[in-house]
Amino acid sequence: MIVGFDWGNNETKIVCPIGLIKFPSQIGEYSERNLESKHGDYDMSFEHKGRKGFAGTLALESDFGGSIMGESKSHQDALIRLLLGLFHCGNSTSYQVVVGQPISMHTPAEKKAIKDMIIGKHTITVNDFTRTFTITDCEIAAEGGASFWSAPVSGTVRIIDVGSATINCASLINKKYLNKDSFTLPFGMETIQTNDLNDLARGIYSNTSKRWKKEDAVLLIGGVAKSLVEPMRAYYPNVEVMKSTVKENGTINEVEPIFANAAGFYAIGRGLYDINKKQKRSV
Ligand SMILES: Nc1ncnc2c1ncn2[C@@H]1O[C@H](COP(=O)(O)OP(=O)(O)OP(=O)(O)O)[C@@H](O)[C@H]1O
Ligand SMILES: [Mg+2]
Repeated sequence: MIVGFDWGNNETKIVCPIGLIKFPSQIGEYSERNLESKHGDYDMSFEHKGRKGFAGTLALESDFGGSIMGESKSHQDALIRLLLGLFHCGNSTSYQVVVGQPISMHTPAEKKAIKDMIIGKHTITVNDFTRTFTITDCEIAAEGGASFWSAPVSGTVRIIDVGSATINCASLINKKYLNKDSFTLPFGMETIQTNDLNDLARGIYSNTSKRWKKEDAVLLIGGVAKSLVEPMRAYYPNVEVMKSTVKENGTINEVEPIFANAAGFYAIGRGLYDINKKQKRSV
């Protein structure tokens, strides 16, 4: 099964043939519970290689529940997030995944470290159900930029992916990734002190205006995209929310901008792994 997997610092977003999945990325330590209240649809008590913990909506029962924030995804919590997500992707015994990495850390060494961590056979227990599956293939796409493939267009496009801990700014010209105009800002919705989206818009502009022009076509993605579009318009008049779509069985469905990266990763996965659809897309 092909899976587009966006293991965000705040929420994990998945696009796969059975649909869209989203759950909190938090992971915390395990403890015995006397009263087992339900906290949400993604309450997960997990065990992986002897490590027990709470995840998703249940992580609030952990004293040290949280999400390791930052620019690299090459760490054990990211692997557990991936396995917890794949646990919910049907009953397949093998997966071909496309995951993301912020633009700043999208280096050959980081990509290799993530692939070495992911590819292979894994066993995970979630809420007393154990599943074993193999991740046969893995590609690492650039967060922000890869969302382009969920809504490809010609010409010059600037993409701003406002996440919880990072903001990825990507540039593409005629469907080709432009490295010199793409970068990661090391802050996001959960790490800034202001709640004022006008301040955030100004902060983004002050970091992008050195390389981007005011009249550029700018597309917003990420959880806050719809609320940020008006504040951003003061700086980039041609800004819009990206209209991401997922194509499945001949139908095209528009998805919320929070799923834009996962939808782009899925489109890349289809291009790489689907023998009927092989098509090279820059990642
Ligand atoms: N519907 C919404 N309206 C406004 N803000 C939202 C909405 N949904 C999520 N957010 C906010 O958007 C932020 C970014 O969400 P997103 O899922 O894109 O981040 P992430 O991918 O988990 O983080 P990162 O990209 O840094 O790893 C969240 O921190 C949340 O505060
Ligand atoms: Mg993100």
